Amino acid sequence: MVLRSGEWVVLVGAVLIIGFSVVSGVIIYVKPPPVEYAYLENEHTIAGEAIYRSQGCGACHEIFGNGPSFGPKLDGVGSKRDKVWLRAYLLKPRSGVSDRPYRLKMQPVADLTDEELDALVDYLEALKKLNQGDNEADISARHDS
Ligand code: HEC
Repeated sequence: MVLRSGEWVVLVGAVLIIGFSVVSGVIIYVKPPPVEYAYLENEHTIAGEAIYRSQGCGACHEIFGNGPSFGPKLDGVGSKRDKVWLRAYLLKPRSGVSDRPYRLKMQPVADLTDEELDALVDYLEALKKLNQGDNEADISARHDS
């Protein structure tokens, strides 16, 4: 079978694309990207996550790649802040606490019962940053104790 020049281009292109996918597939399989953040889910945090959604927090914040950047990413916020800080902050947010200045201002949470606020705080606190060498089981064990 004799290929015309246009067909060669298609054939070589196809081989290159397949080769590239195979090589990147193998690299990712052998060495997956490091996991940096964890979410230590339990029944309180599930309730809190629902409140996070219904309060529209995700309109400004990003968690695990979901959401815009009108406010700081909340990945790992539970390693940076404790529950007391988070609770106080949600009731009385202020500017200048995060990595950089933001144009939008966060509003205090309103219309939440004490239990709902607690659940929301539990959810945020369960968003952990993993240290190198940590795995999720380790920090979740530490978290429970
Ligand atoms: C209108 C956009 C907006 C909405 C909606 C919003 N936030 Fe924020 N949030 C911000 C901005 C902006 C900051 C950063 C304040 C600063 O440092 O200037 C912030 C900061 C925070 C912080 C502190 C982050 C850190 O680095 O310590 C937490 C926690 C937080 N928000 C949680 C929430 C939760 C929970 C909700 C939903 C109840 C929510 N936010 C809704 C804009 C928003």
